[in-house]
Amino acid sequence: MTKTIDKDTLIEGFQQVFNLFFPFLYRILIFMLEEIAQMADLVRSFDLKTPMDIEKFKREISGKNGQLNTLFEQFKGISGDQKKDVGKALNELKILVAQKFEEGVAFVETQNVKQDETDYSLPGRTLHFGKRHPLNLVNEEVIGIFERIGFQVKEGPEIEDDWHNFSALNFAENHPARDMQDTFFVNSEHKILLRTHTSSVQVRTMLKEKPPIRIISPGRVYRCDSDATHSPVFHQCEGLYIDKGVSFSDMKDVLFYFVKSFFGNDTKVRFRPSYFPFTEPSAEMDIGWIVNGKFKWMEILGCGMVDPNVLKNCGIDPDEYTGYAFGMGIERLTMLRYKISDIRLVYENDLRFISQF
Ligand code: DAH
Repeated sequence: MTKTIDKDTLIEGFQQVFNLFFPFLYRILIFMLEEIAQMADLVRSFDLKTPMDIEKFKREISGKNGQLNTLFEQFKGISGDQKKDVGKALNELKILVAQKFEEGVAFVETQNVKQDETDYSLPGRTLHFGKRHPLNLVNEEVIGIFERIGFQVKEGPEIEDDWHNFSALNFAENHPARDMQDTFFVNSEHKILLRTHTSSVQVRTMLKEKPPIRIISPGRVYRCDSDATHSPVFHQCEGLYIDKGVSFSDMKDVLFYFVKSFFGNDTKVRFRPSYFPFTEPSAEMDIGWIVNGKFKWMEILGCGMVDPNVLKNCGIDPDEYTGYAFGMGIERLTMLRYKISDIRLVYENDLRFISQF
């Protein structure tokens, strides 16, 4: 005979089983609610300021393998009654995560716009490359030509006294040769002036050094003169060689070498007798030049054997030493080299002119 189990016994049985498992289920419920609360704190603690922060947030919280999904997985195992509470808490967490993520993304985007306002669609800026000034190009070429045969560069002051600029170079006090170099005086009482030529560096070097002396001195000089072929400020390069037994033919040889190096091997050259107070004999050197299809002689430099008086003035014994000197205008060479007709063009700094060299 079968024993019928009455309803109350059944209910009691269920109640006992329930009571047995309840603490366990209850613990899962409490555990999940705690976890959700902890995670909400964690989410709030995120400070999403950079794309890296967003990536980290996705990796740890909101992404496929993030903690939010893990909680949803656990949630599947929760039964009936508890589902409601945990589900509610979980949904709130989901909303919090979504909010946090959106705020973070919005912040990073506005930040990036602020940081980089460059309009990449604009055309690029043109870079302007500088060019060497034609006077510098010529000056350096001249220096290079003389350095190659042992001349040393010497420089001197642009503000000079009368003695270094004139008297030591054998210009007599009232000699008309001084008039040829129309002078800017800085102080007329003490005869301080802007040097009219680089020949003053000869004097300064001979006073300081013992022969053999083989120098060139490039530099700025000043004369009260201004037109298409003269500028009140211009550049010269002076040369001086003092040693035992130096002759006029040595000078010619060096100057031929210079002209051939600078203007080319076939350049025609001639020497004309001239006068300079500081050389004896003195000469001017011309080169053959074709202007508008016609051959012409163009003066390019002055030169000569250093006058014994100059050597004496500078403490060198003229019976022991002889020497030659020469001086040339850098503007003149530049105008010939580049066929420039007006000297003022080289000082105006007009880019259309300068950028041609
Ligand atoms: N000093 C001269 C001038 O400015 C140029 C010159 C001529 C220099 C002859 C020299 C030279 O050394 O020997 O016109």
